[in-house]
Amino acid sequence: MTEQVHHVPAMDRVKRRDFILLSAAIGIGVAASPFAVPRLLQLLNIDNDATAESALYRKVVELINRLEAKQITAEHFSEELGKYYQEIDINRDIYEGMIDLADGRPRVKLITRSGADKLWRLQLWWVAPNSCQPPHAHHNLVSTQVVLKGKAHVRQYERIRRIDDRTLAVRQTSDRILAPYEYFKTTEYTDNAHWFGADGEPATILNLNAKGYLGDTFEPADGRKLGRYYIDPTLERRPDGSILARETDKETAWDKFSNRPLRDFETAS
Ligand SMILES: [Fe+2]
Repeated sequence: MTEQVHHVPAMDRVKRRDFILLSAAIGIGVAASPFAVPRLLQLLNIDNDATAESALYRKVVELINRLEAKQITAEHFSEELGKYYQEIDINRDIYEGMIDLADGRPRVKLITRSGADKLWRLQLWWVAPNSCQPPHAHHNLVSTQVVLKGKAHVRQYERIRRIDDRTLAVRQTSDRILAPYEYFKTTEYTDNAHWFGADGEPATILNLNAKGYLGDTFEPADGRKLGRYYIDPTLERRPDGSILARETDKETAWDKFSNRPLRDFETAS
């Protein structure tokens, strides 16, 4: 059962200071370069009261606590959140106008909570038409991403094994177009790598990701950064259908993949 949350207009509830910072960052970013916008937005922490008071926030906190207490697995965590999204009016649950807030802004952080070596965040992705977020894998991350508006083209992979410092063997597990309320998940051992984008219209996606909460990881920590790292799964397909995916730096990945729709790149199945 979801609790009733009293809704007031978004502009009253999202901190005015954050809006000013956000607007200034976007203004500066657009003036400097269209690619500067995501980097500037990553510096901002748009915690807002509406998110902290939502039933969705309380649901995430409950799931995080159960994950930390090892009462549920990462798969259970991401699946339960995905099912929860089917039961609520996602946009109204946080605040009216949430989707509009993301329009034209590649990333809007709604709320972030962190502890020692761990962090979870609810955020919005807005993907421009005919563009995508480059392919990437994740270390010690669990996420659930649900489409709010438009359609998202999502291609997912599982990691098979590490070949060397810069190369992973992966296998493609899906290639789908997701409509609003459809979601995709990421855990260490299921659909760990993905990329996603928009075709003719923009897509808005609500992302919940939690980093550093998993005790059992595909690779040892070894000083490895939590969260995403970029890979290129388009280079070499092997006779058994698996792919040699090369790790790549962020700039190379965004340069190669972000300004084209995902359908431009051949599937590896
Ligand atoms: Fe991701």
